[in-house]
Amino acid sequence: AAAELGPYRHYMQKEIFEQPRAVGDTIDGIESIEPELFGDDAAKIFKDIDNILILACGTSYYAGLTAKYWIESIAKIAVNVEIASEYRYRDSVPNPKSLVITISQSGETADTLAALKHARTLGMENTLTICNVQTSAMVRECKLNFITHAGVEIGVASTKAFTTQLVGLFLLALTIAKVKGRLNDVQENQYIKQLRHLPTAIGAVLALEPQIIGWADRFANKENALFLGRGMHYPIAMEGALKLKEISYIHAEAYPAGELKHGPLALVTEQMPVVTIAPNDELLEKLKSNMQEVSARGGELYVFADSDSKIKASEGMHLIHMPEHYGKLSPILHTIPLQLLSYHTAVARGTDVDKPRNLAKSVTVE
Ligand code: G6P
Repeated sequence: AAAELGPYRHYMQKEIFEQPRAVGDTIDGIESIEPELFGDDAAKIFKDIDNILILACGTSYYAGLTAKYWIESIAKIAVNVEIASEYRYRDSVPNPKSLVITISQSGETADTLAALKHARTLGMENTLTICNVQTSAMVRECKLNFITHAGVEIGVASTKAFTTQLVGLFLLALTIAKVKGRLNDVQENQYIKQLRHLPTAIGAVLALEPQIIGWADRFANKENALFLGRGMHYPIAMEGALKLKEISYIHAEAYPAGELKHGPLALVTEQMPVVTIAPNDELLEKLKSNMQEVSARGGELYVFADSDSKIKASEGMHLIHMPEHYGKLSPILHTIPLQLLSYHTAVARGTDVDKPRNLAKSVTVE
C-alpha cells in the first residue's frame, strides 16, 4: 500500500490530488455538446421532458443540489432534488414527463436503487444515472448514463467522485439546454473552454495546501464549525460541513448566509469558526454584510475569497485567496479547499481518515 500511496499519507489525500487527472479523464474527448454523451436515446428523451427529479444520498445528494442551480439557470427546466431514503417512503406527485436522475459513486447504494425503482413504479420511465462504476446495478437499471472517470475511490469520504459528478452534471445542463434550443454556439464554446481549463485551475487551488494546513491546526481543537455559502455555493458549504463531520468528528453545519439571522447567529462566539465561501459573484456584497454580522458577535471567520473580490484580512478574519474566479463552474473549485481543510483537521486530530468510525464506503443495505 505504501508504494501505491506514493508521497501521500492517506488515500483521501491522494484522491484529492488526483482531481486534475480525474476531471481531465471525465471530459476527455468531448469537443462539443452532444446528447449521445448520455446514451443513444438521449436526444429524444431530453426533448420530451419538462421537469427533472434528482435522487441521491450523502455527498452525491449535494452534487444534485448544485446541479439544480446549473440546470435551472442554463437549461431553464425545473429541478427537484430529494434524498433517496426519503423519496421512496413518501407520497409524491409523479410526472411522467420527468427525467429521473440518480447520482451515485458506487452505483450500488440500496436507498438510491430503491428510490429509482419507486419512481419507475409511479410511471416515470425516463431514467439517467451519473455514476462512477460502469458495471454497477445503477447503470444497468437506467436508460441513460454518464460515467465519471474518477477511478477507484478508496477513502470513505468522497472527494474526486464528487467533483467528477459535478462535471457530468454541468455537461448535462449544457446538453439539455442545447436540445431545448437554449444554448448558442458562442456559449457552448465558452463553456467547453472553461471545462478544458478546469484541471489546470484545480491544480492551482491544490497549491494552497500549505496555507490550509495552517488553518487546520487551529480547527483541530474546536468542537463546532459553521459553513456559509450562498446560491450555488450553499450546497458546497453543505458538502464542506459533511466532510468535516465525517472524518474529523467535529460537529459542523452549513447555512445559506442570508439565513444566519434566523437562528445560527445565536451560536456565534469566539469559539465558533465560521468558514465562508466568498466567490466574486452577484451575491458577494450581500455576503459581506452577512460576514459583518458574524464579526460583530466575535465570531472567527475563515474566508475563501476569489482574488478579485477585494476582501481584506483583518482581526478575526482569516483569508485565503482562490487563484481565479470561475463563473458557473466556481462550485467545483471551491470544493477543493474544503476537502483539504477537513483532511488536515482530521490528520491533526489523529482520526482514522480513510476509515472513519461507523461509516462505510458504500451502503448496500437500507
Ligand atoms: C456513503 C459514503 C458517502 C457517499 C454515500 C452515497 O455514505 O460514505 O461518501 O456519498 O454513501 O454513495 P454513492 O455511492 O451512492 O454515491
